[in-house]
Amino acid sequence: MKRIVLTLVAALFLQTFARADEGMWIPMLLKKYNIEQMQEMGFKLTAEDVYSVNQACLKDAVVIFGRGCTGELISDKGLIVTNHHCGYGQIQYHSSVEHDYLTNGFWAMSPEEELVNPDLTVTFLKRMEDVTARVLDGVNDDMKVEERNKIIAQNIKAIKEEAIKDTHYKAVLKPFFQGNQYFLFVNEVFKDVRLVGAPPSAIGKFGGDTDNWMWPRHTGDFSMFRIYADKDNKPAAYSKDNVPYKPAKHFPVSLKGVNEGDFTMVFGYPGSTYQYVPSYHLEMLTETVNPKLIDVRTEKLAIMNRFQEADPAVRIKYAAKNARISNSWKRWIGENRGLEILDAINKKQAYEEGFMAWAKAEAPEYADLLDKYKAVYKDYTNYNLTYGYYREMIPSNGIEIANLAGKMEALVALYKADELNAEAAQKLKDGLVKSVKLFFKDYYQPLDMEISAKLLSMYAENIEATFQPGVYNLINGKFKSDVNKYVDYLFAKSIFDEEAKVIEFINGFSAKSLKTLEKDPAYLLNKSFASVYGDKVYPQLKKYRSELADLDKAYMAAQMKYESDRIFYPDANFTLRVSYGQVKGYTARDAVYYKHYTTLEGIMEKDNPDIYDYRVPAKLKELYNNKDYGRYEVDGTVPVCFVATNHTTGGNSGSPVLNAEGHLIGINFDRAWEGVMSDLMFNPEQCRNISLDMRYVLFIVDKMAGAGYLLDEMTIIE
Ligand code: ARG
Ligand code: ASP
Repeated sequence: MKRIVLTLVAALFLQTFARADEGMWIPMLLKKYNIEQMQEMGFKLTAEDVYSVNQACLKDAVVIFGRGCTGELISDKGLIVTNHHCGYGQIQYHSSVEHDYLTNGFWAMSPEEELVNPDLTVTFLKRMEDVTARVLDGVNDDMKVEERNKIIAQNIKAIKEEAIKDTHYKAVLKPFFQGNQYFLFVNEVFKDVRLVGAPPSAIGKFGGDTDNWMWPRHTGDFSMFRIYADKDNKPAAYSKDNVPYKPAKHFPVSLKGVNEGDFTMVFGYPGSTYQYVPSYHLEMLTETVNPKLIDVRTEKLAIMNRFQEADPAVRIKYAAKNARISNSWKRWIGENRGLEILDAINKKQAYEEGFMAWAKAEAPEYADLLDKYKAVYKDYTNYNLTYGYYREMIPSNGIEIANLAGKMEALVALYKADELNAEAAQKLKDGLVKSVKLFFKDYYQPLDMEISAKLLSMYAENIEATFQPGVYNLINGKFKSDVNKYVDYLFAKSIFDEEAKVIEFINGFSAKSLKTLEKDPAYLLNKSFASVYGDKVYPQLKKYRSELADLDKAYMAAQMKYESDRIFYPDANFTLRVSYGQVKGYTARDAVYYKHYTTLEGIMEKDNPDIYDYRVPAKLKELYNNKDYGRYEVDGTVPVCFVATNHTTGGNSGSPVLNAEGHLIGINFDRAWEGVMSDLMFNPEQCRNISLDMRYVLFIVDKMAGAGYLLDEMTIIE
């Protein structure tokens, strides 16, 4: 009887969760699994139109923007569009109190006015290939893990070298299905990418962190860049002789808009998901890791917001840092809530019972997997939390002065070597001086002091005694447990909060400087935390992660056997994927149904000059009052955003949202609050991706920015 019940539970589970909307599919394999379903849902193109190595196709118009976003080509002159929040670092980089592009927006009115961005790249996928057999060549199940990994690493190296031999391409090779499959990606990376335009934050970040991860939404989250190439259309470092890149393909922009039920496809680079983890993983996140990290960030944000509100210069300096901290903070809160409402842990456990019953009966080699998982997560949870907390303390927007001091370790290593490599030392010094300048451009010492004190107290309270670094002996001894006194001393004595001193120190660095450094409290603070991490946390973390990697690989393979009829999609790993679904509203909670789109009316409803996030620019109000909407008007207003059922995650920001014809109808930029647990479990009833309607984008560029000339190079479908 029990067996039957379990099978039933498993079957129900599968039925609810194997739906059309869920999944991030490999473009090269659409033909095999998805294209028929996509066409049934309305898609008019073929698998070959999406991904092909023989002809120009949709994939040729999709790029990795920077390091963690997606972008797409919208003209044959290298014009790309991505999100405002993806170009945020660049927009901020060019901003100052005098030229405040964050606040006022920026539009290059001619190519000469476009702004050059050091270190910004755009990456095209040329081709991909399943290389599983070659990666696993020479390994077997009886081998020791180390030996196995060594052979795999050698194979990977050889495959990558061969793939890009005699070309300027870059090779990337990634595991799929937790190492049960491997794909090679051959990429082309462009290095001269210039800022063309961005709306003011009151449009591009309208609603700010208040509305972030929420629907209904009215954020005009876009910015535009242009790729430049050398005269042969090849990647080149910035040069004034470079010319606009001529892509193989760019997306026509459709002004036809969307109706509920319409097919939508998101084509981009989702970062990471965890769909196939055991229930222990969900327990770890919801009960321990998320709550603790949420608390640290709540405190950081409270301090930052206060300083930023008080001083416009500080507001600019900390704009990107604040957005970064706030973004995951809010997502973790939503993730916990979503998993709880979905009853995700119980669902996973029910699935696991079914799995175990099957394994015991039919695949005994997998019957101990869950017990093994249980044992690892029991200890891993604490190490994982400590690691997360350590990152919050210093490296990940924590105590900034200590983070900067920690950068000196590279110099220390050089000068401690038996023989000094003078050339390497000079190069390193130059690089460090550059990063020090960037550091101080966005630094405000009083803010850092307050956050430092808060973080040091929180760490002591939240992390167990074995992981308390030596610096607490000083705090509790000399400073009698008064963190504020210690922080006063830290900032009074260290040189690392003064730009001129740090630069002088680096430029004049010699063997003698090692002694000065050993007396600097910021350097010692970083060292004290780093050594706990390096000696006590990292080795264990590494051990557990490697054990988990083995278990994950086996559990993934086992799940595929257990549910042999199901078509699995691999977890996101920042490789190009297709998500398809349809435009659709949703029920957020009892009695609350959200429509699938928002309009300019909603922007005016939110308008509130007293709230920073809701200040509607005068120019937009003027257009609204005059109903000056031109061809972007629909039913007396302008559409702004829409939601659909595409399965997306971080990294998908900036992704093209395409209609049945493969035309650009939107730019993906977020997910709705009720569904952000989709990284762990997808709920078709409530998981929605949020996109910016292209009609609003063109309306802003054309009517508000007066940069209508850009529309001339686009292919617009009316
Ligand atoms: N939530 C979106 C994503 O994860 C947008 C983030 C940027 N916006 C912000 N207010 N922090 O990236
Ligand atoms: N906003 C996210 C991004 O930046 C997208 C998401 O998580 O849905 O990629």
